[in-house]
Amino acid sequence: MDLKGKNFLTLKDFSPEEIMYFLDLAEDLKKKKHEGVAHRIHEGKNIALIFEKTSTRTRCSFEVAGHDLGMGVTYLDPKGSQIGKKESIADTARVLGRMFDGIEYRGYGQEIVENLAKYAGVPVWNGLTNEYHPTQMLADLLTIREHFGKLKGLKLVYMGDARYNMGNSLMIACAKMGLDFVACAPAEYFPNKELVAECQEYAKESGATLSFIEDVMEGTKDADILYTDVWVSMGEPDEVWKERIDALLPYQINKKAMDNAKDTAIFMHCLPAFHDLETEIGREIYEKYGLREMEVTDEVFEKYADIVFEEAENRMHTIKAVMAATL
Ligand code: CP
Ligand code: NVA
Repeated sequence: MDLKGKNFLTLKDFSPEEIMYFLDLAEDLKKKKHEGVAHRIHEGKNIALIFEKTSTRTRCSFEVAGHDLGMGVTYLDPKGSQIGKKESIADTARVLGRMFDGIEYRGYGQEIVENLAKYAGVPVWNGLTNEYHPTQMLADLLTIREHFGKLKGLKLVYMGDARYNMGNSLMIACAKMGLDFVACAPAEYFPNKELVAECQEYAKESGATLSFIEDVMEGTKDADILYTDVWVSMGEPDEVWKERIDALLPYQINKKAMDNAKDTAIFMHCLPAFHDLETEIGREIYEKYGLREMEVTDEVFEKYADIVFEEAENRMHTIKAVMAATL
């Protein structure tokens, strides 16, 4: 499998075999890391990490993975560069492409990371856009495969704003890899029709099914995985909290939803999660709307914490696999 020089912008650009290759490579790199076996296969290279939105997992994963592979890592924070304000993406790409061997970008529209990739001349990796979060998908697939020993035929139910990066990306990942995907949400929160049509084509190849269900009991029935994400994403205005709470509270992952899934079902979350009052935003929402927990109850979150934090660790191993393969 030769993926050298390839960008990593959305899983749409990769075949199921290529996605499986990333997972196998990540599994191998995870084993090496746990056993203390050095894997500095990109010694002497340098990467740039551009973050126009904040991050804990993605940034740390790229930094640690970069260092483990023997590379120098430069982090550009949301305010610390000329990008966008004084310099176009095309010009930035042509500058950074001459200095670095690969570039990570987290920000707003998918067209920005596509443009960066067009002009950089080195591999560009999407660390999250409004539309997609492809590195998260590799971590999720790896976690699911580690837990269930397989991917095909499992039923993954995404509850929440399925129109945004996580809903879109999980639908693509499931369609490509043969999992049965359910978006369980109010109809206006379902992914857009064009993306659904594209995913239906992948599903024909993989044997996946795609369903869009408003009823929570129907949607969560016999699920293997219940998955959720924050109701308001980075970059969205605070004003949307009220409409999201009204629309999505019935889709909160709580004991009732978990009990309706299979006995062997697990809970997953890309994190960060609002499951208690230990965050600033969590407390603000509590003061304004009286809600102590949002997309997932604290009870469910803590019950499945081992899986959720394994999923977070897997961000690092899978991001390392992406860089190892494409550089
Ligand atoms: N899941 C995820 O992308 O986390 P960060 O926003 O912390 O990078
Ligand atoms: N939908 C969330 C995902 C965070 C990893 C956001 O974009 O903020």
